[in-house]
Amino acid sequence: MIMSKKVLITGVTGQDGSYMADFLLESTNYEIYGMVRRASTNNYHNIKHLLNNNRFKLMTGDLTDSQSIDNIVKEVLPDYFINLAAQSFVGASWQIPEQTFEIDAMGVIRCLEAIRKHAPKCRFYNAGSSEELGNVDYSPQDENHPLKPRSPYGAAKAAARHLVKVYRESYDLFAIQGLLYNHESPRRGEEFVTRKITKAIARIKKALDYGYEFEPLELGNIDAKRDWSHAKDFVQGIWTMLNQSSPKEYLLASGETHTVREFVEKAFLYAGIKGRWVFTGDLNNTLPENEVFKKDSGEILMKINSVFYRPAEVDLLLGDSSKAKNDLKWNPKITFENLIKEMVENDLKM
Ligand code: NAP
Ligand code: GDD
Repeated sequence: MIMSKKVLITGVTGQDGSYMADFLLESTNYEIYGMVRRASTNNYHNIKHLLNNNRFKLMTGDLTDSQSIDNIVKEVLPDYFINLAAQSFVGASWQIPEQTFEIDAMGVIRCLEAIRKHAPKCRFYNAGSSEELGNVDYSPQDENHPLKPRSPYGAAKAAARHLVKVYRESYDLFAIQGLLYNHESPRRGEEFVTRKITKAIARIKKALDYGYEFEPLELGNIDAKRDWSHAKDFVQGIWTMLNQSSPKEYLLASGETHTVREFVEKAFLYAGIKGRWVFTGDLNNTLPENEVFKKDSGEILMKINSVFYRPAEVDLLLGDSSKAKNDLKWNPKITFENLIKEMVENDLKM
């Protein structure tokens, strides 16, 4: 009897983990093992549609607990191990730097050690980030750009990149860390800027439609530039990276960069709300915190709150994914505009 292959996915309750599970259940006949950590309240909203699928099984583990990772790898003996779990919010990584490093860097050693001991033929993917490049030297960035992180999160991911390389070279493991730029979707966590914007717009739209007062959306640095894509396109890229003949690392990005400001404008427009940028106070007062986005009729839609500024910022991200397109035939389909539309429409429906 031919045994079905097994894929272990950590971070399966998150954005990418849940899309990866969807994609593999649809496009393969493999058994999918999703690792979840114990939580006091239910956080299965991204995977509830999978819970009755007999090829989808949940395993309890935590990247901060080596025994749990070791036990899961020993029991499942996966053919693929896709590590998407992380403390993934850059902003929080200054408040919880130790925990961020513990999960995002030390956690990767725990995965690699378990693979080395119990499943050395397993193909391992670790989720790398454009935050590792940080204060960039040139644009667009490519796979050769130096690591220059600006946050505890970026530093932890950069450490993980070195660890993955060391284990690959020391033990001949198929272990890679992709270099992925920002990717979003209706499943994006609510504190990341794109989803924060689309959730607030849905709330504001309801208030405008029913004619009651509302609090504006509050953001930090709206001039930061990001290279945004759709998470669905990226999980396919990760899977292709894992199925090459040799373990090579690739950069996935859209090749376009946009400011947070642009995202705000377009998202409001897609919700049918037209706004414009205005400085409040006296005419010479052009400090960023005095700029608002408002309707001609006077309602303030968005204002700046310095609480959301970071101790150090990555000002510009723009990736060149031509290697992935050429070598892996990776073909992302969802545009920036369609991504925003989908996110706005989803939140308006909720
Ligand atoms: P996400 O939605 O925040 O999901 C993170 C997942 O990690 C959640 O399932 C979370 O579980 C789990 N997790 C956190 N700490 C854990 C621990 N100690 N043990 C086990 N599981 C833990 O993140 P995402 O956007 O899907 O990103 C997936 C990966 O790609 C992350 O590694 C992220 O850093 C990286 N990445 C993301 C982007 C992007 O733009 N989305 C870009 C580059 C790299 P709970 O539900 O229990 O919290
Ligand atoms: N979250 C947030 N909230 N960001 C804001 C806000 C706000 O109120 N106001 C402005 N921003 C700016 C941030 O300062 C940053 O420049 C940009 O919006 C994007 O912030 P996030 O959406 O939190 O994402 P990120 O770029 O810091 O990190 C994401 O992408 C990385 C890849 O580059 C995360 O998904 C990371 O996990 C991922 O590695």
